[in-house]
Amino acid sequence: MDRGEGLTIRVPGDKSITQRALILGALADGESRIGAVPRGGDPLATARAVAALGVEVRGLDGAGTEPVTIRGPGLRRWTQPAGALDLCNSGTGTRLLSGALAAQPLAVVLRGDASLSQRPMERIAAPLRRMGASVDYLGRPGVLPMRIGGGVLTSIRHDGEVASAQVKSAVLLAGIGAGVPVEVREPHRSRDHSERMLEAMGAEVAEGWRGDAWSVRLADPPARLEPLDMDIPGDFSSAIFFIAWAALATGQRPVTIRSVGLNPTRTGLLPVLARMGVDVEVLPRGAPGGEPVGDLRVVGKGAGLQAVEVGGDEVPGLIDEVPIVAVLAARADGVTRIAGAAELRVKESDRLAALAVNLRRMGVAVEEFPDGLEIRGTGKPLSGRVECFHDHRIAMAFGVLGASPGCDLAIDDPGVADVSFPGFWELLARVERHSVGAAPHPGQIPAAPPGADRCIVVAVDGSAGSGKSTTAAAVARRLGFRHLDSGALYRAVTLALLQSERGCEDVEEVTPAELDALRIGLDWHDGTMHVRIRGTLVPDEALREPRVTSLVSRVSAVPLVRDHLLELQRSAAAGPGLVAEGRDMGTVIFPSAEVKVHLDAEIRERARRRLLQRGRRQPAAEEVDAEAARLELRDQRDSTRAIAPLTQAEGAATVDTTELDPPGQTEVIVQLVLPFLTSVEYN
Ligand code: DC
Repeated sequence: MDRGEGLTIRVPGDKSITQRALILGALADGESRIGAVPRGGDPLATARAVAALGVEVRGLDGAGTEPVTIRGPGLRRWTQPAGALDLCNSGTGTRLLSGALAAQPLAVVLRGDASLSQRPMERIAAPLRRMGASVDYLGRPGVLPMRIGGGVLTSIRHDGEVASAQVKSAVLLAGIGAGVPVEVREPHRSRDHSERMLEAMGAEVAEGWRGDAWSVRLADPPARLEPLDMDIPGDFSSAIFFIAWAALATGQRPVTIRSVGLNPTRTGLLPVLARMGVDVEVLPRGAPGGEPVGDLRVVGKGAGLQAVEVGGDEVPGLIDEVPIVAVLAARADGVTRIAGAAELRVKESDRLAALAVNLRRMGVAVEEFPDGLEIRGTGKPLSGRVECFHDHRIAMAFGVLGASPGCDLAIDDPGVADVSFPGFWELLARVERHSVGAAPHPGQIPAAPPGADRCIVVAVDGSAGSGKSTTAAAVARRLGFRHLDSGALYRAVTLALLQSERGCEDVEEVTPAELDALRIGLDWHDGTMHVRIRGTLVPDEALREPRVTSLVSRVSAVPLVRDHLLELQRSAAAGPGLVAEGRDMGTVIFPSAEVKVHLDAEIRERARRRLLQRGRRQPAAEEVDAEAARLELRDQRDSTRAIAPLTQAEGAATVDTTELDPPGQTEVIVQLVLPFLTSVEYN
């Protein structure tokens, strides 16, 4: 993580790419691993739909940090679902799935929520029918619900009247699925995420201008698709809000937005920003799934922004970004002209009108044209109320303007940002809080001084069954910190003694030389701890063997053993941070840990969790009571034992996890740590 250098943030994964990865993964031959999947409504609806088609999808219900795996059965291997597939509000999911379903010998009904059920489907239905699929509307013509009957298809060339990535993708997927060549021509280039992903999976897609049409051709469909192994890149259209925030801030340290998708059909804003005088440095980070990814680094510009002219061919490549250009224009020197953007009048709102009304209300001079705006920039203080017109991009663009120097804006409907960017306001607040010179919020622990290069230690302890292991590991993953599982070290000593000639007999008599001979060591891979015994890595299962579990508490009560492990545990504090889990972390090992947390929960809830951990499905009340009684005894022993009793470290924050699920527990701790970071991550 970037420390004194500036702020580092992440934005949610790109939904367009996520939808494609879920659907193409379900057509592949073998298991795909897809990391950083945004857990929003649209991807979830699509994932549920492919699962209903008999494809095994794992990892979606977790805390949101683990990768999703999809066991693709191969082309044309989906099975008849029990009922209709509900795509909720996912237009991309519906249209891409329709293409893929056209090639499956099934009859599948697709439906959606009220808003999706208004959106036109005939544009994809027509080419799929021409290929030989049946598409029937079960309600009103042209809209969901519709039934797709698929099977054997024939080759087509489709000439689209308008450029549409969804129509193009549906035809490509039908061609891939049915094994027939297809060609799609469009008046200009639409987004090419599907083409890139198909190529990464082994298909050959030829693209180029043919006369005045852009042609995308699948001449020789492959017999199988290779599975994917990729992380979903951050959404460029979300990243730009923080680029704009940095550009408007004055005296700002650099802001780096990590792992953003840089597909050239999406990044048309970058040259416009350059003309405005905003330097965005692009640091490439590979091309997983065929999608170029990079970090974007921007240095604050503040008052030095220049007005620009935007129009013509460049508008399709930045159509979603016009609101952010408009708010930057309000602070730029001169008159900015945006033309050729009539399409903005039929987005989530009439965006041209929404921009004009709001900017004028706060005192910016704006002229509105049928296809654009003229905005005269001003350095005057801007204040007032912003009307969002149910449009997430309007809300977020003005949110960024409102967070810039000299502005005081009240956004009337901030919740609408959730549509594309859940957590936007929290991230904006955090980023503001961490900017140089910002006063800490009342009641907050002051941030580490800029440039401080120290390892931040979070000590986590807690009673048995309070959820500490899972939570400590999840907190470490969220923050990019190491996770020290100190219990595993005591287990390693126990196992090593058991494996040695000496054994565990009279462990209280163990000598320093005998402990040295065990050569307990630690290795770190991406923040995960691995234990070595006599130079050899030990698998987790070995540390959890019953014979180890039954002896470890005795071994861990031997003072010499505790001393022996002290330095090894302290050596774990390296890099940006460490989450150290175990009973004496905040008292003995890291008494000056920046954050100390003590997790607790009501005893019956802890008992229930322990039973679940042991594989019980729905423990009966009596079982829970019996386990609670055992725990009570153990608590008493734990808190009164002479060596390393389980006591709460001074200054530790108690977190009652009774009502919190694992992601909730993680969030509470992450919030305690954030003020210590000069760097911010969004997950
Ligand atoms: O968390 P665990 O079950 O892996 O811990 C194994 C044993 O080690 C348990 O009896 C508690 C003890 N322990 C300890 O004494 N001090 C620590 N810092 C961590 C664990």
